[in-house]
Amino acid sequence: MTARLIDGSAIGAAIRSEVAAEVSALRAHGTAPGLTVILVGEDPPSQIYVRSKARACAEAGMRSDVIALPASTAEHELLSVIERLNHDAAVHGILCQLPLPRHLDSARILRRIDPAKDVDGLHPINVGKLVLGDATGFKPATPFGVQQLLVRSGIDTRSAHVVIVGRSNLVGRPLANLLSQSGPGADATVTIAHSRTRDLDAVCRTADILIVAIGRAEFIRAAAVKPGATVIDVGTTRVDDASRSRGYRLAGDVAFDEVCEVAGAITPVPGGVGPMTIAMLLVNTLRAATMLTVGRSATSRQPPATSPPS
Ligand SMILES: NC(=O)c1ccc[n+]([C@@H]2O[C@H](COP(=O)([O-])OP(=O)(O)OC[C@H]3O[C@@H](n4cnc5c(N)ncnc54)[C@H](OP(=O)(O)O)[C@@H]3O)[C@@H](O)[C@H]2O)c1
Repeated sequence: MTARLIDGSAIGAAIRSEVAAEVSALRAHGTAPGLTVILVGEDPPSQIYVRSKARACAEAGMRSDVIALPASTAEHELLSVIERLNHDAAVHGILCQLPLPRHLDSARILRRIDPAKDVDGLHPINVGKLVLGDATGFKPATPFGVQQLLVRSGIDTRSAHVVIVGRSNLVGRPLANLLSQSGPGADATVTIAHSRTRDLDAVCRTADILIVAIGRAEFIRAAAVKPGATVIDVGTTRVDDASRSRGYRLAGDVAFDEVCEVAGAITPVPGGVGPMTIAMLLVNTLRAATMLTVGRSATSRQPPATSPPS
């Protein structure tokens, strides 16, 4: 069997063009949605992610600013930048690129972002709303993107057994919450696995949909996949590769070539979850701009990318 490829680049592009159409309608009413990304330090992958986010914003007709601060930035300096952005009416979304340098307390910094501008969905208020199934909060972009990837690929989560490998606050836990709620793109029975899970392969083989977010290159092999299962690979790890001009390649958490022969559908790396993360960040920023300018009546309105296939 050769698995069907789930094309995150194409699905992400479709979502971005839907966002662009809504942005131009909002601009016609005098609002230019704006995202500000704060980058502290010179972590090369973070620099690439920030550039991609800024480019995607610009292509969708949004304003985007990058505030680049030196790695030596003190916590009170970063907090005062966030405070200024919280009060800037032209800024609708604020994203602080993670990871931050070690001397900065990420949890304290994320808590300072106005929840109404927290388009990364990491403020405790938005995390709480996600857990409660309260649609007025922001869903974190990567879990939201994985859910949309499934919905728009026609993969039914209802009554499916989903195994998520990885329990981080950024990916695994919020994704488990999203997929186990009731409603379209959810209604799944979810198991979370992690580094202490006994017989991980056996647990993974019970999955109709296997989602892997661990950050270990090509760790999940064919023996962990039930024939015909859907496999979503969130992992992105740089692996040395002298044959590439930049000296490395991006690898997922799944051994793609051998798992392709067992799975029914699979995401590639790159070109799977990554483009969806950026697309959903734009969805969240558009929604923040709508909520902050049109008013709270928009808070329960669904963003443009949540409808399941009919
Ligand atoms: N494509 C995107 O847009 C996107 C976005 C976010 C993250 N990512 C990628 O996704 C990956 C995970 O990111 P993260 O932030 O969630 O990572 P993280 O915070 O390091 O969490 C990793 C999780 O994987 C689990 N784990 C590690 N080794 C394991 C093993 N051998 N068996 C089972 N579980 C294991 C850990 O378990 P314990 O809790 O027991 O330690 C932990 O829960 C990374 O490669 C990251 O770059 C991609």
